[in-house]
Amino acid sequence: MSKSDYFLTSCESDKEQYTAIMEAAIRAITASMTHEKAYAGMPPRELREFLHTDELLPETGVGFDEILNETQTKILPNLVRPMSTCYMAHLHGPALLESIAAELVIATFNQSMDSWDQSPAATEIEVEVIRNLCKLYGYDEKTSDGVFTSGGSQSNLSGLLLARDRYCNEVMHRDIRKHGLPENFRKLRMYTSEISHFSMEKSAQLMGLGCECVVKVPVDNAMKMDAVKLRELVEQDAAEGNLPFCVAATVGTTDFGSIDPLKELRSICDEHNMWLHADAAYGSGVILSPKYACRVDGLSKCDSITVDFHKMFLLPISCSASLIRDGKYFDMLTIHADYLNREEDEGDGYINLVNKSLQTTRRFDALKVWMSFRMRGRDGWAKIITTCIDNAAYFHGLLKANREIETVTEPEISSVVFRLLPPEGCKEDADTLNKRVRRALMHHEGVVIGQTVCHGHVCLKFTLLNPRLTHERLDELLKLILSLR
Ligand SMILES: Cc1ncc(COP(=O)(O)O)c(C=O)c1O
Repeated sequence: MSKSDYFLTSCESDKEQYTAIMEAAIRAITASMTHEKAYAGMPPRELREFLHTDELLPETGVGFDEILNETQTKILPNLVRPMSTCYMAHLHGPALLESIAAELVIATFNQSMDSWDQSPAATEIEVEVIRNLCKLYGYDEKTSDGVFTSGGSQSNLSGLLLARDRYCNEVMHRDIRKHGLPENFRKLRMYTSEISHFSMEKSAQLMGLGCECVVKVPVDNAMKMDAVKLRELVEQDAAEGNLPFCVAATVGTTDFGSIDPLKELRSICDEHNMWLHADAAYGSGVILSPKYACRVDGLSKCDSITVDFHKMFLLPISCSASLIRDGKYFDMLTIHADYLNREEDEGDGYINLVNKSLQTTRRFDALKVWMSFRMRGRDGWAKIITTCIDNAAYFHGLLKANREIETVTEPEISSVVFRLLPPEGCKEDADTLNKRVRRALMHHEGVVIGQTVCHGHVCLKFTLLNPRLTHERLDELLKLILSLR
């Protein structure tokens, strides 16, 4: 490599060095793609020892060639591979190639999305992407708004914070920004299903309301929030003098992909002047499948929506958006700083996105959506999303036909939860059996699948987010799992 200081400039030799470094990194990555396994198998203690170093900051640096070599030999082989058809453990999948190219642009130009002067074209693109997303989810383009965030947890916090502030400002007539929480804040209540994501409680904690303000609503047999129970709980709370301010629905629960009944929840929220937030971190992608989009058609009626692009949309981590039906509520988050987002900027046409954001310095993640949506179009996306949901239905059908397996619910998106039953005469109990099979798959077969608990029993989980998966591959995986039983 050249002896320069490794910065990209307009100088030809620096450009050549940039290209050489990127090409070398790409060669190292592609050279490591020698198998379809999702994990090479090393158990945690062995891997820890293998990667141990006291020399993070040596007296003299080792240089690029050596560090790439170390990365290639030590780290790359032991990374989990979400691009593999043997990976179905969690809610992220194979990153689409155009979005990896977008990541290169994002990192190279290092825009920060807080103020226009740090990201002129990037700001305008984010605004365009958000406007189009609001339209996609059925919001009025003129009044809705949104912002990119670091992930579903932050998008949920953003939506719930606006829900809390709207209630305090408009219903309790308390200027919460100036005076903080109202004295009777312990009476505030938000409702979410008993299987919603833990970021609901974390948000309540961060908002100063405490986890006790989160009322867990039971789910029905399909793992959806029970709207009848919700109504009873809200009415009971209101009668006791508590202050119901928000329902947080889940559109794609983490384990089952089940979708709460948005229309019924909307009616209850309207009756009680409550905000309806949709945590669609997982299920937001369903809208791009003409075959299945009807499953999420209540989203347009929600006051805020969490959309995660690093889940069903297969874009690299991190990439998420918080959409708000009435964008005026973002004003509650705006604080002006002389060095960054001056008040006069807006009048002169400079948009400073920090005004809507919980983060200050922020990545240009909107580029990944821009490139991928425009490149693939509606038909390309429909194929990806529909294939994943069809695969889940196929796999569930296979499991149901098998007497050695119990399933939990019909998949609505792409997650299938099931439990292996011990063979007759087997001494191992079912929980131990299922845990053992998952570990054996990971460390001996290179197959990484999920594990959770349902109705008190350990279950296994396939989250099928790889559109390359075929029915034949699913048949093989099931055979493999049964052979380990
Ligand atoms: C339903 C749901 N909401 C929110 C989140 C949190 O998203 P993130 O990990 O992007 O913060 C998850 C994560 O799996 C999730 O499943």
